Amino acid sequence: MSDRFFVTTPIYYVNAEPHIGHTYTTVLADTLTRFERMRGRETLLLTGSDEHGEKILEVAKARGEAVATVAAHYSDLFRETWSELGIGVDRFVRTTDPQHEAVVSDVLQRLFDAGQIDFREYSGLYCVGCERFLTDRDLEDGLCRDHERAPEERTEANYFFRMSDHFEWLKGYLTENPEFLQPERYRKEALAMLDAGLGDLCISRPKKRLDWGIELPFDADYVCYVWFDALLSYLSGIGYPDGPDFESWWAASTHLIAKDILKPHAIFWPAMLRAMGLAPPHRLAVHGYWNVDDRKVSKSLGNMVSPRAMEATYGFEVFRYYLLRDMVFGVDSNFTEERLIARVNADLANNLGNLVSRSLNMTGRYTDGRVPPPGALGPAESRVREAAEAAFPAVEKAMASLQTHRALEAIFKIVDTTNRYLEEKEPWRAAKDPDRAQDVQTTLYTCCEALRITALLLAPFLPEHSSEILCRIGYERRLEEARLPEDLAWGGLAVGAETVKGAPLFPRIETAES
Ligand code: MSP
Repeated sequence: MSDRFFVTTPIYYVNAEPHIGHTYTTVLADTLTRFERMRGRETLLLTGSDEHGEKILEVAKARGEAVATVAAHYSDLFRETWSELGIGVDRFVRTTDPQHEAVVSDVLQRLFDAGQIDFREYSGLYCVGCERFLTDRDLEDGLCRDHERAPEERTEANYFFRMSDHFEWLKGYLTENPEFLQPERYRKEALAMLDAGLGDLCISRPKKRLDWGIELPFDADYVCYVWFDALLSYLSGIGYPDGPDFESWWAASTHLIAKDILKPHAIFWPAMLRAMGLAPPHRLAVHGYWNVDDRKVSKSLGNMVSPRAMEATYGFEVFRYYLLRDMVFGVDSNFTEERLIARVNADLANNLGNLVSRSLNMTGRYTDGRVPPPGALGPAESRVREAAEAAFPAVEKAMASLQTHRALEAIFKIVDTTNRYLEEKEPWRAAKDPDRAQDVQTTLYTCCEALRITALLLAPFLPEHSSEILCRIGYERRLEEARLPEDLAWGGLAVGAETVKGAPLFPRIETAES
């Protein structure tokens, strides 16, 4: 295992506010970095804003504002949203940053000098939504599949990156490195795209039509195609070409994307990198789409689900938990508020929240508000301990393929087992019998220790609530210093630590029907 972990989200377009889809990818990236940090790796999360191109210009025109003003407004909105929601962004690249623009310009010049870029005439159907010329496969009934709008016929003299020179190599790479592109279905899809026959990549736009972009260093009449510019943010954000840490971060890179932008990431990007003499990213991981109430998320339907609105109604971590628990990585998922409420009430309020409040209520009443000394572990305690010990290998395995729902399932087995254990031991009854004082102590120690292990494992998913649980059971190690799996060893909780009952951690969400 490399000692570094570098994860990227797509850099988001600055034409709309952050919604459930952007939030999911970014939350997942944050969860992965927290998990890897706890495993002792140095981590870096890169996100940003994709600001050039026709799409942004259209929005600015419609609003009657300067394009740079609109871009800055939305870029700030994304950056502030992630920060307010507690997402640990290490690098935020704006494609209008002079340092990024310099990298793009430098790469263009080098590829041009190396004969990787040609000047040719091209006619085709162009979709402004996609910011590219479409192929037959992108069309349905004459409309762009993704944007459901008619593309425009365009003929232009343009610069082309000789992308097809790299296709044979790319086919081989995708075939021989099955772990590079996950899950498997998207690797197959990428191979099918190559088989269907793609041409070279048009990487310029004439300024007379579009001047909102990075000027080509070898022809001042053109700006760079927005995707060519945007993909390079993954490098400019880590100090390419000669930053001291560039190579070690790049070797440890995971790109997270949704299926909508598979082609630029699985085809354009590896070809660009190869032309530049760089290796592909370590891993490209592709998730499905969030639909809302069974419909595609769209501005016109107004079903965007804003993370800030979710925060105001439910608290952000609860929403975050739902996203990570409900989506099966790689497959589409459907968001409804009813499902969120049902999930949160079942897992967080009734199951985990209840275990925390019962356990700490009882340490308050029966063991002087302190973690009691345990006696010898009997078979019932051993079952709890075994559940706690079984969780980490399952979590580790699930996280390797980004199956956060599986990781959470594994962690909640500890909570289920401990709740059953409490029912079986009935310490509230035992407490009435002075001869069973030791029993009560063992039971409550076991519960607090199970909660400690649960909270450590949950920390990447629910950072604030996990930290609160650890605090309430008197665990002194700070979360930032905690290490997995070392700190999961049974018996890590200090006897005599002060416990605090506190307010309900996850209040039940009441609805009109409940
Ligand atoms: N700017 C490009 C990406 C350039 S990366 C070098 C772009 N931006 S975007 O704002 O449209 O973001 C697309 C990404 O947002 C998806 O790949 C995904 O990460 C996230 N999502 C946007 N809508 C989504 C859903 N409805 N569901 C899940 N995630 C989706 O494309």
